[in-house]
Amino acid sequence: MFELQIKIPASMAGGYKVIIGTDILGSLWQTIERDYPKLNKFVVTDENLSSSGWLAKLTGEVNIPAFIIAPAGEISKNINTVISIIESMEKAYLGRDTLVVALGGGTVGDIAGFAASIFKRGVPVLHIPTTTIAQADSAIGGKTGVDSSLSKNAFGTFWHPVGVYIDVSALATLDERQFRAGLVESVKHTIIADGEYFNWFESNLNSILEQNPVVLEQLAMRNCKIKGRVVEADPYEKNQRRMLNYGHTIGHAVEAASGFKLLHGEAVAIGIIGACLIELELKLAKNDKLERIRGLLKKIGVPVTLPGNLDDKIVMELIKHDKKAVNKWPRFALTTEIGQVYSPGGQYAVEVNPELVGKILKRLR
Ligand SMILES: NC(=O)c1ccc[n+]([C@@H]2O[C@H](COP(=O)([O-])OP(=O)(O)OC[C@H]3O[C@@H](n4cnc5c(N)ncnc54)[C@H](O)[C@@H]3O)[C@@H](O)[C@H]2O)c1
Ligand SMILES: [Zn+2]
Repeated sequence: MFELQIKIPASMAGGYKVIIGTDILGSLWQTIERDYPKLNKFVVTDENLSSSGWLAKLTGEVNIPAFIIAPAGEISKNINTVISIIESMEKAYLGRDTLVVALGGGTVGDIAGFAASIFKRGVPVLHIPTTTIAQADSAIGGKTGVDSSLSKNAFGTFWHPVGVYIDVSALATLDERQFRAGLVESVKHTIIADGEYFNWFESNLNSILEQNPVVLEQLAMRNCKIKGRVVEADPYEKNQRRMLNYGHTIGHAVEAASGFKLLHGEAVAIGIIGACLIELELKLAKNDKLERIRGLLKKIGVPVTLPGNLDDKIVMELIKHDKKAVNKWPRFALTTEIGQVYSPGGQYAVEVNPELVGKILKRLR
């Protein structure tokens, strides 16, 4: 069991507690009632969390108003779901003294966080993340949002949670492919922030894949510490936080170009190799770094090359539409050594020539 504190001075609660444990879901409701006795609770989750029994495990016998997102996943991450959530909160006579409890993966967290941030001008949200992506990444950091019909996270807010409670045993029912893809966010954290963590990850990979609870707790703890540190330094993404975008500039474009057939983490794995190739080309890093990272990603079982049916031109076009693009071209987060982000002049996202990126896409085959 671990507990950390993340300080976000300007947020509603000034910061938040992250609790990490195994088999704690059944007792979390008591903790929530103890920590927030004056607030009415409203749970947002999805049909898979409900059918795998995690919702019942969390709330027990108590009858708590809840909204169950169906169908689960990105398809429901839109403004209509947010409207339905807000209206069902109104129907339950909830007011500003409400705590939204988000039980689920990144889509549930993003939707519930967004709904909480706008319900009656904002009520607190507490995250109980249940996927490898959410436990490593999305639950920490306060980014919320839903997609428009044109792009991802077109509606969104920064709304830092009041707490993040992680039960690593919830991962047991997660689909194996989702489990593995989500680990790529952990690999990203090792590369941008902590070489020793990379070594640890390499040597503990088998235990991670076997879901050894002791190792999973350490994994969650290391991720939350790294993400927490970056978010504390830059809660509203002015600069440092851009390093978290490592592998994501090419990754997001590849994810979209695949028509979302590749999972987010799978596309980011390809994007990380793309970033490594750029670093090699710019002589920022050596080949052995690329080989170690590629070896690790292969062992996780995620792709490290672009699928044959993806057209480079479409990927390039999508990179130009990156939401962080300035003058139709985004900046890239890059690293030198494993654990060492490249930040010339204190800038955590740097310009890379589009022609070079075009060349790298060809080398990603
Ligand atoms: N806010 C952020 O900072 C941030 C960061 C990274 C990703 N994201 C967002 O997160 C989303 C992806 O996250 P995700 O992969 O967790 O998505 P998800 O919530 O859609 O979960 C993936 C699938 O697993 C199911 N699931 C979740 N937990 C389960 C469990 N314990 N057992 C069985 N099934 C379970 C879900 O129902 C869903 O079908 C994207 O929308 C992405 O934009 C946000
Ligand atoms: Zn990501």
